[in-house]
Amino acid sequence: MIHGIERLPRLKLGFYPTPLSEARRLSSVLGGPRIFIKREDLTGLALGGNKCRMQEFILGYAREQGYDALVSTASSQSNTCVQAAAVARMLGMKPCFVLLKGVHNERQGNLLLHDILESDIEILELSDLTQVGGAHVSEKLDAAADRLRSEGYTPFIFKHSLPHIAAVIAPVGWVNGADELTQQLRDRNVKADYVALANASGATQAGLTLGMKYLGADCRVIGYTVLWKAEDAVAATIKQANATAEYLGIDTLVDEGDVEIHDACVGDLYAMPNEECIDAVRLVAQTEGIFLDPIYTGRAMAGLIGSIREGRFKSTDTVVFIHTGGTAALFAYHEGIARQQ
Ligand SMILES: Cc1ncc(COP(=O)(O)O)c(C=O)c1O
Repeated sequence: MIHGIERLPRLKLGFYPTPLSEARRLSSVLGGPRIFIKREDLTGLALGGNKCRMQEFILGYAREQGYDALVSTASSQSNTCVQAAAVARMLGMKPCFVLLKGVHNERQGNLLLHDILESDIEILELSDLTQVGGAHVSEKLDAAADRLRSEGYTPFIFKHSLPHIAAVIAPVGWVNGADELTQQLRDRNVKADYVALANASGATQAGLTLGMKYLGADCRVIGYTVLWKAEDAVAATIKQANATAEYLGIDTLVDEGDVEIHDACVGDLYAMPNEECIDAVRLVAQTEGIFLDPIYTGRAMAGLIGSIREGRFKSTDTVVFIHTGGTAALFAYHEGIARQQ
């Protein structure tokens, strides 16, 4: 256990450790490196995903503070919000979201799951997810919280940007995730040279990078941002990692040398996934029987494949790809993904 984590309020939401499976056929088709896939899509919470580890600590905190409603925001097909809604229901809290509309706002994919959960949802006519931390969305969140207060609730407002407490806590679960992964690799006698994953808010990469550095693991974490320019994603990830280190009371500091992020797979989150992403989703399904998602893991895998083709790795290297979940969104994006009839 990493210092400082044991004293934090925490819910037990996932089934851990998540499986780590070797992707031999994928690796062989790509001509190396050796690839493992960490199946974070199998956490067991609301169809799985990387946010389960975060919700354990964020909603653990919210429950301890006595909140009985949750207000949050993201895109209409957000996996994070569905997992938060599911946990809120498990805790008897009211789930309430202000979502950015985009083009996939029919009751399909994650919006279908919200419908089943009966989340309280307001959809904004905004299509650019980079506005999610902006003033307009923030005002809408505050208005939703005021409405809940007038109905007698005590809402926890879950904002994704620093210095909001949820953004400070979010990486904690992945500091723990680094501990779990290094232990798993040790038990399997595997030396991983790299971990590769999707980066959006940066919380997962921040936590993993901080955890790996704290543990002294000789393993570089590489992010594929789906949303930002690489230099902005690097800055945000470093900031978040160090805010979390301070919160945990550990003196490990993450700097530019620790954070590698590529932005070749950035896209408009609301547009249909590009060809490289769809090809990556199909390749992993057809070699490993594993379904990625069209927004995060498909783009990150497309980025990883691009890095392999550019010679970023030696054929003898070992890369662990984190399957961060999101599979439900495949169904919302079916028109872009399905082959033409
Ligand atoms: C499936 C999936 N993968 C990756 C990410 C990115 O994680 P982070 O926001 O921690 O960078 C998200 C974020 O919503 C996600 O839903």
